[in-house]
Parts: sequence; C-alpha cells; structure tokens
Amino acid sequence: MPTTTAQNQRVLSGMRPTGQLHLGHYHGVLKNWIELQHTHECYFFVADWHALTTEYDHSEKIAAHVTDMVIDWLAAGVTPGTATLFIQSRVPEHAELHLLLSMMTPLGWLERVPSYKDQQEKLKEKDLATYGFLGYPLLQAADILVYKAGNVPVGEDQVAHVELTREVARRFNHLYGKEQGFEEKASQAIAKMGKKNGKLYKNLRKEYLEKGDMESLSVAQALLESQQNISLGDRERLFGFLEGTGKIILPEPQALLTQASKMPGLDGQKMSKSYGNTISLREDPKQVETKLRTMPTDPARVRLTDPGDPAKCPVWQLHEVYSDSDVQDWVRKGCTTAGIGCVECKQPVIEAVQKELKPIQERAREYEQDLNTVQNIINDGCEQARDIARDTLEDVRKAVGLIYR
Ligand code: TRP
Ligand code: SF4
Repeated sequence: MPTTTAQNQRVLSGMRPTGQLHLGHYHGVLKNWIELQHTHECYFFVADWHALTTEYDHSEKIAAHVTDMVIDWLAAGVTPGTATLFIQSRVPEHAELHLLLSMMTPLGWLERVPSYKDQQEKLKEKDLATYGFLGYPLLQAADILVYKAGNVPVGEDQVAHVELTREVARRFNHLYGKEQGFEEKASQAIAKMGKKNGKLYKNLRKEYLEKGDMESLSVAQALLESQQNISLGDRERLFGFLEGTGKIILPEPQALLTQASKMPGLDGQKMSKSYGNTISLREDPKQVETKLRTMPTDPARVRLTDPGDPAKCPVWQLHEVYSDSDVQDWVRKGCTTAGIGCVECKQPVIEAVQKELKPIQERAREYEQDLNTVQNIINDGCEQARDIARDTLEDVRKAVGLIYR
C-alpha cells in the first residue's frame, strides 16, 4: 500500500452532465457504481462546474442535463439511501478548497496533465485557453479531497487526475500538516493507546522509518484503524507520525480503475455521443429495433448465401455482451456457413437490449412523472455531502491558519 493513502474506504465519483445516458454509460460506469454502493459508503455527484469548463458558452442546457442524468442514475439502479447523490455546485466547499489548493499548486503540474493538451486539440472549435479549463483537474482534486475519499472509480482517461490529486494532497500535508507541538501531541496520542499497543506502534514505526519495512507500515496502520480510544484528530496525527510526516489532513486517494467499457456502439467503435452510435437508456423499444436492424454487418455478406466472419461484424460484439455461449455458437456457425441471415442473427440482441432497458425505462418514467421526488433525493444528498465537506474545510482552514474566531 502506498504511504499516506487514505485509510478509509469511502468511494467518490462524478460525472459531467451530458444529459440522457446511453448503454455505454450503463455498462461502463453505472453497473460498477451499483455494485460499489452495496459494499462501500458511496458519494456520486454531477460535476456541473466541470461542464462549465468546456460549455461556458452553452450554460443554459446544463440544469436540464443534470436532472436527466440523475433520473438515469436512479432508473439504472443507483439507490439513494445506499449511495448519496448530489450536485457539485450545491456544495460550495468544493470551490473553496479548489481555491486554497490553487495557491500551492505549481502551474507545471496542471500544464503537464495529458488531458489538458489533448482536449484542447480535440475541441479545436472552442477557446479552451481559459483559467478554468487549466484548473479542471485541480477542481477534480478538490472534489475528491473534500470528502477525504479513499477510492475513486474512474476510467483510464481520468487516472492522471487522481494521480495529480495525490500529489496535491501530499504537498498540502507537507506544507500545513506541521501543527505546533506535533511531536508532543503524537506522544500523548500514543499514550492513549495503552502500554502494549503504544509500544507495538513505536516498534513498527521504527521498523518502517529505519528499514523501510512496508509490512510494519501496514501492520501499524491496521493497528491504528482498530483503536477505539483515540480521537479522529489523534488518529490522523499518528498516521502522519508513522510515516515521518506531519498530521495528515487530506489523505491521498487511490483510483479504482474501471475496466474500459466493452460496450460497442452501433458501428463497432466505442459507444459515444460524439460518434452518433448510441442507444440511449430511454430509447423507445421500436427505435431500439430500428437502430439494431439497420446497423452494419460484415460487408462480405452481400447476399444471404455469402458466408461471413463474426470478427468483422459489429453485431458480433453485441453478442459478446448480451448472448450466452449457446447463442454465440449458433451465430458463429450460422454466419460462417451462411446458415442464418443477418436479420435473424440480430434478433436475440434486439430482444436482449429491450429486456435490459425495460425495467430501467419503467423506473425512469416514474421519476419523470414525479420530479418532486427527484428534487428531494438531490436535496437530501446535497445536505449530507455538505456536512462532510464543511468538516473538512474546518480542518483545512485551521491547518492553513485562516481561523478568525
Ligand atoms: N472529470 C471526470 C470526467 O470527466 C468527472 C469528475 C469530476 C470526477 N470530478 C470528479 C470523477 C471526481 C471522479 C472524481 O469523467
Ligand atoms: Fe454479423 Fe450475424 Fe450477419 Fe454474421 S450473421 S455478419 S455475425 S450479423
């Protein structure tokens, strides 16, 4: 385990409000969230400020997209009560932490984030030479650190942002974790652990600091986790003391890498709005059928009697997601021997997608007709999130020295 990593298992992730979600989001992100919510304390939020970094000239669409997206989360099975759902801009502490972090983040760190230049290249038609766009990953760091989240489920493209978050947290702790009388407070905290555990902690610390023994570090961390007699503040002190740093105010998160979505779009490329190859979660069943019926197949199969090769056919990729091995065998055999037609081959996929979407769409319709409930869920989530964020900002202001009471 890397040092000064968050000991807590809290999960945080965010999504930019792109409006109604599609099957790519469902298979790539939401199913993962739904699993995590049963095993971890989860916070999922709509990153509306992040949307502004690229959509500042179309901000009028953001609010509707936020609601639509939350409805899709709920319809897909993210459960309020199990997970906390909220909107970034409703927890202004994200902005305050972002500002404070901006004071100590070297420009080079942000300029070096790969997505900075990539996105500017990709979205050439937009002027992204803005202050906010450069700060995008730092805002993301604030999103994560304000909840002291230990785990951040993200796709490959976001790993560099979590890495930056770790560096920023380390720098913050280094700059501001040195409270007055730290060593003395640490000794007092050790005494509170009792004779036996205190001694064990000191020995493990020595093993780690003098010999770099990682095993001792993780045993000591587990020991601290299990202590009932010490306060949260003391625990943070002792985590820091253990590693020879100051008090850990903002723990470093780790990325929970979500496997790249295997969900292909209608043309065999990754499903994405920008490729126009999506099936949205609220797509009408008839429309699902039409879209799948008209999707391209192996170009070699001009006539029914021409054999095909599933490896060259985007429909096959959908069978890989949706069909069991019997159906897959039927496709492989039927295709390569020209025993089945493409229309026939697509039928099980059409039915599987419709079946998957049916309960999602039923729930979405209920929420669409009861926007009050959606608002209440969001309001509750924002409040819960804000309680945690407020506490963190108290700690942060205190550490920086901005307390005027
Ligand atoms: N940048 C992420 C994306 O584009 C969204 C995001 C914003 C996020 N803040 C976050 C993800 C914090 C995880 C944690 O997908
Ligand atoms: Fe594709 Fe199926 Fe047609 Fe073969 S039979 S080309 S796998 S749609």
